[in-house]
Amino acid sequence: MRVDQARLEVWGRTIGAEVRPPVTIALVGPLGAGKSVLARAIGVGAGVVDPMPSPSYNLLFEYEASNGRRVVHLDLYRLESPDELWELGWASLGHRDEIVLVEWPERAGDAMPPDHWIVELRPVKGQSTLRDVAVDRAGRPADLPPFPAQLTSDGSR
Ligand SMILES: Nc1ncnc2c1ncn2[C@@H]1O[C@H](COP(=O)(O)OP(=O)(O)O)[C@@H](O)[C@H]1O
Ligand SMILES: [Mg+2]
Repeated sequence: MRVDQARLEVWGRTIGAEVRPPVTIALVGPLGAGKSVLARAIGVGAGVVDPMPSPSYNLLFEYEASNGRRVVHLDLYRLESPDELWELGWASLGHRDEIVLVEWPERAGDAMPPDHWIVELRPVKGQSTLRDVAVDRAGRPADLPPFPAQLTSDGSR
């Protein structure tokens, strides 16, 4: 599906509001693809009220969300080796009440939890305001609200 930012954010807020943790979502795509935009929208939907800065230097930020849930936002772009993950507390992520959002999951190598969603955002040539979104899964993650058909700009899914 091909979406503008507003539509991507509506989907993100729906995910945040409806997904039942624990769930891990890998956000894949080049710099500027919109991974952080989607992560923030998921946070807003989940009830995060604090601003969600890009976790570039910290690699990990954790937020209180509504209904006792937590949102953990990681950006592994600057991770030099999957070994560093353990210093971030990686081993204790994915608790019952956590929505874990991982930018640059490739950096984690095979340390990603077996069950997770993979959302890929791809820039569209010549259309700087649009992204192609592809959703895939690894293992058996908790249900993700589908991308509502009426949100896609070309009617496709
Ligand atoms: N359809 C779109 N979806 C998401 N972001 C978009 C879209 N169109 C333009 N943008 C812009 O692209 C940038 C994406 O930035 P960001 O989310 O930080 O990227 P990433 O985290 O993937 O590096 C933002 O400036 C956003 O406003
Ligand atoms: Mg980012």
